[in-house]
Parts: sequence; C-alpha cells; structure tokens
Amino acid sequence: MSADVTLRGLPLRAEGITAGYGGDPVIRGITVSADPGQVVSLVGPNGSGKSTLLKSLVGIVRVSSGTVTVGGRQVTNMAPEEIARAGVGYVPQVDDVFGPLTVRENLEMGGYLLPRGDPGLFLLDEPTANLAPAIAVALLEEHVRGLAASGAAVLIVEQRAKAVLAISDRTYVLGGGEVRMEGTPAELSVSPEFVESFLGGRARPVGSAEG
Ligand SMILES: Nc1ncnc2c1ncn2[C@@H]1O[C@H](COP(=O)(O)OP(=O)(O)OP(=O)(O)O)[C@@H](O)[C@H]1O
Ligand SMILES: [Mg+2]
Repeated sequence: MSADVTLRGLPLRAEGITAGYGGDPVIRGITVSADPGQVVSLVGPNGSGKSTLLKSLVGIVRVSSGTVTVGGRQVTNMAPEEIARAGVGYVPQVDDVFGPLTVRENLEMGGYLLPRGDPGLFLLDEPTANLAPAIAVALLEEHVRGLAASGAAVLIVEQRAKAVLAISDRTYVLGGGEVRMEGTPAELSVSPEFVESFLGGRARPVGSAEG
C-alpha cells in the first residue's frame, strides 16, 4: 500500500470506553482519537488492555459505557462485520491473523468486505511481532506510514516503542486499563517517566544523537 493510492480517511473518536469480558472491566474510561493522515500509537505493558481496546472498537468486545464513532457515524457495539463495512480495517494480534498471508495481505483483508476501495481507518495490533528489527522498522516506515500518507487514519498497538514513536503523530500510554500518558513524540521523548519505562535510558529530544 503506497501513497499513490488515495483512501477516504475516516476519523476515529472513542470516548470514555469501558469494556471487558464479563467480569470487572478490563479497560476503563479510555478516550482516544485518530484523524485521517495520522498514525496514532498505543503502547503499554503486557496486559494493560491495548488489544481489548482495539477489540472494543471493532465490536468483538462489548462496550459497557462510552461511544465509538468512525467518520462521524456511531458504531458502538455494532457487529464486527458491520464495523468492517463502515470502513474499519482491523489486523489482530499475531495468534489471530491469517498466518500464510503477508502483513500487507493481512492489512488488505480488513477491507475485503467493502464494495470497492480500502478501509479509511486501520486498527493494527502489533503488526511487527515476530519480525526481525530491520524488517519491523521498514514495515512501520513504509507500509504503516504509507497508509496514513494515502489518507487513512491509523491506530497502531506496538511493543517497539522507539520505532513506533518515530512514525507517530501522537501516542497514548496505557497502564492498568487506563490512559496514563499521551502526547506527541517530542513531548513523550522528554518525559522522564516515559523514557524510563519505554525507551530505556534518559530523556532526550527526538532526532538528537544517540549516546
Ligand atoms: N478473552 C478474554 N477473557 C478474559 N480476560 C481476558 C481475555 N483477553 C484478555 N483478557 C484480560 O484482559 C487484560 C488485558 O489484556 P489485553 O490482551 O487487552 O492486554 P494487552 O495490553 O493487549 O497485552 P499484550 O501486550 O500482552 O498483548 C488481561 O488481564 C487479560 O488477561
Ligand atoms: Mg495485546
């Protein structure tokens, strides 16, 4: 997927999302947004609720309070196939994807229900898991950034905080099922708490020399 394709981007607005699997909520009061042309990333420790949030946005996990709109249209708790038809492409975490397909093919699978064109909003759950570091960076820089350059809105969950920060317009940090921090890469890269938790080492401005 490259910038020569033009996608009709769909803004995501998720407000106050509380959701879970039937017992106590796993995520509570989460507000996130992504606009066409943007890559917005979601980072956080294992079990912090990143995948649960994406699943709640695509109708797989039930939202008990809060609202999800895509392109201004209410999609809260709609069936997953209806949300796909509304223009949302979802690439699940590694165990749930179609193994024999390439990452690109998996991205495009999200749009297979649409009459024509591709999704306008992509939700990607750790698309670089199990890839070698150089390939992961290339995937993020070329394909993921390329989706946004084509006009789509992208919300991506990533373990590789440094690599994803480099391609993000904004990043949310989840912890214990809530948003703990949010900001631009420039803001987060000078936050001691963020740097210690996710980048390793001491805070320094994005783009400055290593060391
Ligand atoms: N199907 C399920 N049924 C019950 N609880 C679940 C289910 N899936 C996830 N959970 C629980 O919800 C919490 C959040 O899990 P989730 O998968 O959303 O985290 P995550 O941030 O995506 O973690 P990871 O980085 O490991 O992918 C965890 O405590 C997990 O055990
Ligand atoms: Mg996950």
